[in-house]
Amino acid sequence: MPEPLRLGIAGLGTVGVGVIKIVRQKANVLAARTGRPVEIVAVSARNRDKDRGVSLSGYDWEDDPVALAKRDDIDVFVELMGGSDGPAKASCEAALAAGKDVVTANKAMLALHGQELAEDAEANGRVVRFEAAVAGGIPVVKALTEGLAGNDITRVMGVMNGTCNYILTRMEGAGLPYKEVFEEANSLGYLEADPTLDVGGIDAGHKLALLASIAYGTKVCFDAIELEGIERISIEDIEHAADMGYRIKLLGVAQMTGRGLEQRMSPCLVPADSPLGQLEGATNMVILEGDAVGQIVLRGAGAGEGPTASAVMSDIIDIARGTRLTTFGQPATTLEPARAAKSTAPAPYYLRLELQDKPGALAKVSSVLGEAGVSIDRMRQNEHSAETAPVLIVTHKVTRSALDAALSGLGGTGVLAQDPVAIRIETV
Ligand code: NAP
Ligand code: HSE
Repeated sequence: MPEPLRLGIAGLGTVGVGVIKIVRQKANVLAARTGRPVEIVAVSARNRDKDRGVSLSGYDWEDDPVALAKRDDIDVFVELMGGSDGPAKASCEAALAAGKDVVTANKAMLALHGQELAEDAEANGRVVRFEAAVAGGIPVVKALTEGLAGNDITRVMGVMNGTCNYILTRMEGAGLPYKEVFEEANSLGYLEADPTLDVGGIDAGHKLALLASIAYGTKVCFDAIELEGIERISIEDIEHAADMGYRIKLLGVAQMTGRGLEQRMSPCLVPADSPLGQLEGATNMVILEGDAVGQIVLRGAGAGEGPTASAVMSDIIDIARGTRLTTFGQPATTLEPARAAKSTAPAPYYLRLELQDKPGALAKVSSVLGEAGVSIDRMRQNEHSAETAPVLIVTHKVTRSALDAALSGLGGTGVLAQDPVAIRIETV
């Protein structure tokens, strides 16, 4: 009888329960696919008495996840508690020091401490795997680390926070303002305990930082991400963008440029008829571009019990099979510091200007834009109120610094009734 792979699972919430269900219900399939039994030995959570809708019989209980991580009778410590520091980090460190492999879904911890954990793992001859941490059920970490390992990755792009995509598509579908849909998402339980992680773009930024590290052989550098959330996106902009053939997405983009590594997580306009433009609800999409392969589009559930547990299991199965991959696709000590690009690549922008409806206002706008080197591709003036007129502009490609100079110049013209809105248009 082959030796079983023995798991200790810390965290019995949505994802932990999903993993337990798969291990219990698919024991035969797992053994057939890995050549050995996969067994849960012990578990940990805060509340021992909570009914979790799944039997924990046969598993030892540990109140302290660090104690679980150090147990002699486990091979893999499965961290599913969450939190960038605290018990999650302490227990993963303890597991590696005790010679255990680690599987985690914790993007916050890895985005901030992934480099040190990966170095710890390698120093101890262990692995840290994290398929579930990025885009839930979509096997994007595997795609980058394994399937596309023969490519120079030219761009990584995607919608990696389902809650934000739900909010944006629901706003458009129902014509509702941000605040109302935010409350609705909250009542449906979509938002993280700290909603800023979702709507502030932080959660998606964590995921992008992890993918960028694998794609470009750089140390994870969350701090270098240019980060903007969806809080300022109005229903007016969503509707105007739709009129002009675009949809607004919280889009992550990582690309290596001559100016350094560009990492952005921000609202962008994408063509409505593109795969990204057609992405509805809480679904995620990651687009990977490689010099040899061209473009790959991956789409699927970015969260939830089944999809996330499916991704956790893929890491556990790798370990059971003896497939031992480095955390970020190459030895952690060989990852280069990420040299952050100081400016983003030029792009077209969508501008919404609320102008005082008086003679010469538009002339002043085009003169300021022209002087700043911002060239207009398309312009539209829609419905008027008594005093102001909304003017929509799509620019040709322009640098963000030239655009900012133009926006600041517009502020001095006295023709703007409110602050201008500028949103990047991404070529997809
Ligand atoms: P969750 O439902 O909130 O569950 C967290 C679990 O961790 C609970 O069982 C909790 O115990 C336990 N826990 C928290 N602090 C603990 C501590 N100090 N000691 C011991 N146990 C502790 O979280 P989740 O949604 O399953 O997420 C788990 C991880 O997966 C997070 O890193 C999350 O970012 C990541 N993730 C989640 C999803 C998703 O769809 N949910 C998708 C991708 C990634 P009690 O139950 O006793 O309170
Ligand atoms: N809050 C995250 C989302 C959960 O909405 O995508 C999955 O990481």
